[in-house]
Amino acid sequence: MTKISPSILSADFTRLGADIDAVSTADYLHFDVMDGVFVPNISIGIPVLQSVRKYTSMPLDVHLMIDRPERYVETFADAGADLVVFHLEATGCPDTCIEKIHGAGKKAGIAIKPKTPAEALLPYLPRLDLALVMTVEPGFGGQKFMADMLPKLRLLRQAITEQRLACELEVDGGVNPETARLCVENGADVLVAGSDVFKAPDRAARIAQLRG
Ligand code: DX5
Ligand code: ZN
Repeated sequence: MTKISPSILSADFTRLGADIDAVSTADYLHFDVMDGVFVPNISIGIPVLQSVRKYTSMPLDVHLMIDRPERYVETFADAGADLVVFHLEATGCPDTCIEKIHGAGKKAGIAIKPKTPAEALLPYLPRLDLALVMTVEPGFGGQKFMADMLPKLRLLRQAITEQRLACELEVDGGVNPETARLCVENGADVLVAGSDVFKAPDRAARIAQLRG
């Protein structure tokens, strides 16, 4: 079944606990870290992750939109991430990042921005727990879904199936019930959704609807 990972970037941070409770029927909780260098925005980081870790038992899907993630992947692992996802474009040493994350006992993922071809991820897939295809330019919630990313999902799904890999295939950006269906049809099995879930009056119902 399709997994849903609500992004707390769209939560109300003055009532983060209540907002997490409202999405607790989801499979993962998506935690967006932005450094103002790799992306033109700054969000939340280590102290917030530590608090969220204490608050919820949901698996924490930590999306690092930071430059040279090799400096911080172990810190985020220790702060409570279950899955640490870094950007391929942000590092000169993706293998080191994967080794550090796995060495800390956590799952490792790599994300690619819209301009990065899916082929760039292929050499890493056998060692990854998750591959993340961005369907907006990273940095902000509430942007429009880029349908021209769908062929990347098909290519990665084919590689995962052919090689019988355990790697999950996640999409992030502009997911709503309509685009969720397109993502799943093209091979995604984990959907990040920020604004669509948090603006819904009944968030549990919206999560169920996104699952399809
Ligand atoms: C964007 C973040 C996303 C964001 C998605 O850089 O990585 O996780 O929260 O927001 P929506 O679902 O509103 O596009
Ligand atoms: Zn994200």
